[in-house]
Amino acid sequence: MGIILLPPTFAEQEQAQPGKALFLQYCQDCHGPQRDGRGALRPFLEQDPANLTSQMTQTKTDQELFSIIKKGRGEMHGWADTFTDEQVLDLVRYIRALSP
Ligand code: HEC
Repeated sequence: MGIILLPPTFAEQEQAQPGKALFLQYCQDCHGPQRDGRGALRPFLEQDPANLTSQMTQTKTDQELFSIIKKGRGEMHGWADTFTDEQVLDLVRYIRALSP
């Protein structure tokens, strides 16, 4: 898996939908519905949730995002016990496909 920085095709947008449902349920409280890091829990964390639409995140490889989500980072615990690998991939696709 490499870096994908091309604008998403319609098919990719559609593929991203399973990830969207998971994101809205598990991730938006911190990362926000727009994925810009402005979730409702932001004020209660010592560390700002990452803006997932940012260069910082979007220039990471799919593999890097996959392993960060699985292992966690900073105040975000790992999600390896919550999701299957396929679900983590769905989340990576969602972070990718709907990015500006
Ligand atoms: C408790 C709040 C919280 C929740 C819930 C949460 N995150 Fe995070 N997330 C964070 C914080 C805080 C960071 C930033 C850590 C840092 O700066 O090193 C982060 C970082 C990340 C990063 C790394 C971004 C980068 O460029 O380094 C990714 C990817 C990510 N989160 C995805 C997710 C996904 C997908 C979910 C849902 C399964 C999720 N997060 C749920 C708080 C959260």
